[in-house]
Amino acid sequence: MRNVYSIEIDNVSRIFKLDRTARKDIGKELIALNKINLQVHPGEIIGLLGPNGAGKTTCIRILCTLLLPTTGCAYIEGMDLVKDVWKVRRVINMVSGGETCGYGILTARENLRLFTELYGIPWRTAKPRIENMLKVVGLDKFRGSRVNKLSTGMRQRLNFARGFTTDPKVLFLDEPTVGLDVLSARQIRSFIKQWIADNNEKTILLTTHYMAEADELCDRIAIINKGKIQAFDTPFALKKLVQKDTTLDLTISGLEPFPESWRQITGITSLTTSQKVEEQATYVHALLSDLEASGELIRMVTSDGRRLVGLETVQPTLEDVFLKLTGRSLLNDDNTAPLRVQES
Ligand SMILES: Nc1ncnc2c1ncn2[C@@H]1O[C@H](COP(=O)(O)OP(=O)(O)OP(=O)(O)O)[C@@H](O)[C@H]1O
Ligand SMILES: [Mg+2]
Repeated sequence: MRNVYSIEIDNVSRIFKLDRTARKDIGKELIALNKINLQVHPGEIIGLLGPNGAGKTTCIRILCTLLLPTTGCAYIEGMDLVKDVWKVRRVINMVSGGETCGYGILTARENLRLFTELYGIPWRTAKPRIENMLKVVGLDKFRGSRVNKLSTGMRQRLNFARGFTTDPKVLFLDEPTVGLDVLSARQIRSFIKQWIADNNEKTILLTTHYMAEADELCDRIAIINKGKIQAFDTPFALKKLVQKDTTLDLTISGLEPFPESWRQITGITSLTTSQKVEEQATYVHALLSDLEASGELIRMVTSDGRRLVGLETVQPTLEDVFLKLTGRSLLNDDNTAPLRVQES
């Protein structure tokens, strides 16, 4: 057994031989993952954030023992993915968000039971988990409905429930909320957070295209692009990479002269004001190296009878981070594969 990381990826690459039936690709290879390293502690929710074709699913498939790494090693709970494959499989589970599989002629509840039986979990243990998960995903009333009678979103939610019924130590969620309605996606996100909060020895690795989702859920985020991990840190630290300061824009009524004392507040990097004569208002634009300075600034701005009529903070987003690290937009889905193709 190795040390206590719940997930450890050590210099893993995955190279695919391209389809030999496509004449132009004969003899070429595609580097889907390029020497990636990652260490995840128990109790963490980790996000892999990157555009289409970045290598997120390939990474998850390797960690789920569905795909072998071409080079490098990876470990789950200290167990080698290749040598200890059967032990690893007992402690993991995986849900792919777009997946709507399940046995159509079985009911929702029977489907979940089948999967717990495949893990060798006794019914007395599985039953309460299944009942609970059916409620969590809002399928309690449909427990007796055949899966082929459920809508796509319902099947997707059932699939999400399946991931938790085996009570895995490490759970992989590949785009868990893709295609779900806003309410279902929100419920799923809050369940993920609660599950980790209640079980601090468990770990979730999820992939997503949704920056806000990664931001909300993840303790740390690995930004992945063209098969490489470009950065791995907390959402807060990642955003600090792009902007050391927080921007605070205040509007006060009346045309105010610029008081030098506002700029002296500790934690304010720069401060400018501009008078808007037609609006009879003054804008104050401040850059804060320490968010705490905002309280003092607002207090001073609103002293002497001045009235605050507008307040806005502008925070950098993970999209800004991605742009800075890769020079391209996360929202731009142009495939990166050709850049990684090499002659074998
Ligand atoms: N079995 C395969 N054979 C050949 N190429 C593959 C195979 N599986 C994945 N690839 C390629 O590897 C690269 C990474 O794919 P992967 O599915 O890991 O990306 P992803 O980050 O999950 O993208 P998405 O956001 O679209 O799900 C892509 O260029 C893809 O075409
Ligand atoms: Mg994918």
